[in-house]
Amino acid sequence: MKNTLALTLAAVLALGVSITTSSAQDAGKVNFEKQVLPVLKESCFKCHQKEHEEDGKIKKPKGKLRLDGAAVIMKGGSEYPDENVVAGKPDASWLVKTMELPDSDDLAMPPEGKGDRVTPENIALIKKWITEGADFGGWKGEE
Ligand code: HEC
Repeated sequence: MKNTLALTLAAVLALGVSITTSSAQDAGKVNFEKQVLPVLKESCFKCHQKEHEEDGKIKKPKGKLRLDGAAVIMKGGSEYPDENVVAGKPDASWLVKTMELPDSDDLAMPPEGKGDRVTPENIALIKKWITEGADFGGWKGEE
């Protein structure tokens, strides 16, 4: 009887520990939808989303790059297809490389005079998300 109780207690404790560690890991991981998407919305969506009409004009995604859906983010644009986000490799990912280029560079994003540069904190966050495997969680966005 005593043994059974001890075993049950040990099992409950082990379960408790494993639940705590897995949620602690998740808590440390960047959440795309909550942390990265708002940055892209704020700084990039204006020019990099699905073709749509605005003030009677058809707006096409610049550089054929869309950032409003998980699949299109991975697909990339016309110059760097499949290299917009390279999971595990922020230094090979143009999504974040363009954010770090100097203003004078033609590919600096957002282009010079077309919006504030992304803050170093948010660039570090996006790099961390890519290093962690570029996991979109359940987010799919636009097709
Ligand atoms: C005011 C419009 C505008 C905004 C805002 C903007 N871009 Fe761009 N982007 C462009 C244009 C235009 C191009 C095409 C290349 C060129 O002509 O410089 C481009 C091209 C790119 C490319 C190259 C795609 C390829 O494979 O050819 C990347 C990557 C990129 N942008 C990322 C971003 C990111 C990330 C943001 C937000 C931080 C952003 N852009 C914000 C206009 C914009």
